[in-house]
Amino acid sequence: MGVIDEIKTRLDIVEVIGEHVALRKAGRAYLGFCPFHSNTRTPAFTVYPDTQSFYCFGCHAAGSVFDFVMRMQGLAFREALQELARRAGVVLQERGTEEQAQDQHRTRLLEINQAAARYFHYLLLQHQRGQPGRDYVERRDIATPMVELFQLGYSLETWDNLLRYLTERKGFAPEEIAEAGLAVRREQGGWYDRFRGRLMFPIHTLKGELVGFGGRALDQTLPKYLNTPQTLLFEKSQVLYGLHQARDAIRGADAAVVVEGYIDVITAHQHGFPNVVAPLGTALTAGHVALLKRLSRHVSLALDADAAGQRATLRGIQTLQSAQEPGEGEEPGDDVRPVVTAQGLVRWERDMTLRIIKLPAGRDPDEVIRADPQHWRDLVAAAVPVVDFYLDAYTADLDLSDAHHRRTALERLLPVVAQLDAVQRRIYVEQLERMVGVRAELLLGMVHETHQRMEQESRQRARERSGSARSPSPG
Ligand code: UTP
Ligand code: MN
Repeated sequence: MGVIDEIKTRLDIVEVIGEHVALRKAGRAYLGFCPFHSNTRTPAFTVYPDTQSFYCFGCHAAGSVFDFVMRMQGLAFREALQELARRAGVVLQERGTEEQAQDQHRTRLLEINQAAARYFHYLLLQHQRGQPGRDYVERRDIATPMVELFQLGYSLETWDNLLRYLTERKGFAPEEIAEAGLAVRREQGGWYDRFRGRLMFPIHTLKGELVGFGGRALDQTLPKYLNTPQTLLFEKSQVLYGLHQARDAIRGADAAVVVEGYIDVITAHQHGFPNVVAPLGTALTAGHVALLKRLSRHVSLALDADAAGQRATLRGIQTLQSAQEPGEGEEPGDDVRPVVTAQGLVRWERDMTLRIIKLPAGRDPDEVIRADPQHWRDLVAAAVPVVDFYLDAYTADLDLSDAHHRRTALERLLPVVAQLDAVQRRIYVEQLERMVGVRAELLLGMVHETHQRMEQESRQRARERSGSARSPSPG
């Protein structure tokens, strides 16, 4: 038996949960008020001793004693494991030697990143040749405390300045510098710096580990932003820029705001909005959402409303959906702007509140905040639930007094509503009834059918994927 199972057999989930939630016996299960969503009327939170699991009929929170402790105490899996092992009197094995070697390797790469960040920071603040970086920071009006808080830096224009510093002065090998994503191997042999002549943004995990960098060109050079490639430390679908700096503010405000860019995050902080983070040029992923959920269940996304609406209607909801299948579809390149897709967002809405902040067309938060912080505050306060946003966006180009258009509206919106849980379906079906003039009872049936069809299609796609993975590839 593995440690996890051993812990599960030694502990009683009813007892562990009972310390946080008042439970009463109801048949074979126990009932209480769910600690994960606010409710005082119906106890929807159910604990099953048979299967040692819990489930909330209100917010669909579910899982084992591990899931409960992680969520209740905001712990990562390893931390919950340690805590519950202690409780159960189970001794955790020392990590295997392979794991230890892996840890040491990670630590080494983290040290390289830290040394590089300190060096870039020094170049930006003190070195004579850092003047272009300083000019740029001044031009963008980034205040000195922000340069410090985000540990901004500057990489020199030359081909091997960082490499030479890290090898000659710090004793690192070019191979490992490349592995950290800071150097690139030349085809003819030798190495060069990946980041040259750029304003450098260190990227941290929630815990504050420095796992990668973004670098902005100071002029029209492309790409505008260059990011660390995927490395042992850095997987950009799993990190959010500014999360470490925003952590306490997100917890304190019990709300997070997601913007599109590095500079948006910094400008927000600078003007008194410290609960702001950004993905790194990708769509928001399930990994991002899981990170945010550990801090708060209230998340607002700042989108260029017109652009998002246009994308929605131009590409059609079907494509948006397939792009959001598990695995997130293809990885967008560094020059791709983040695209937020409907289906995933709506699905996440099930256990958190997700709102859309509608930005004035063509302006990003950086511009809005600088022009008028109060305007930004108002926009954040006026954010709409994500479903409402899509109901609007998907019908913006339609004339709902026209029967054909109403039909189109229905075709676009049924798949959105089909992602919702039972309670939300009822709420939005009524709204749909007003929009398209089909009776709510009929709509509920259609929503149900749409849901089943989509499930079937997604199972089919999964089968096809696993089928093609098994068949030998040509060549
Ligand atoms: P934007 O092009 O909107 O840039 O890209 P920005 O954030 O407004 O930056 P400034 O104000 O022009 O300096 C938004 C985000 O998309 C990612 C970056 O994370 C950027 O902040 N991106 C953009 C890339 O990763 N690569 C690119 O080439 C461009
Ligand atoms: Mn900008």
